[in-house]
Amino acid sequence: MITLIGKTLTKTTEAQLGQSLLKIAQEASVDWQFNCSRGTCARCRCIILEGADYLSEVNDAEWDRLGPDELDAGYRLGCQAVVEQDGNIKAMNKTYF
Ligand code: FES
Repeated sequence: MITLIGKTLTKTTEAQLGQSLLKIAQEASVDWQFNCSRGTCARCRCIILEGADYLSEVNDAEWDRLGPDELDAGYRLGCQAVVEQDGNIKAMNKTYF
């Protein structure tokens, strides 16, 4: 299962393998902030509270956009982090502003 915490709404839904956190949030009607969907704006930034191991590896766009301290703290870009394995995942959308 995947729990997504948007700006005001939280939903738990089936994790869909191969889908980004942003896509799953949109399908679940969670108010997850985004703009570009391509890994450049960071509006979709989120912190992974549980299940980081079930997500894809941090990709080039995330290395470029997020600082090492953010990556260490467990931040990802929702439009780039893809669910790769079944398991419990919890992510909270945390924009910079
Ligand atoms: S929506 Fe722009 S970085 Fe993800």
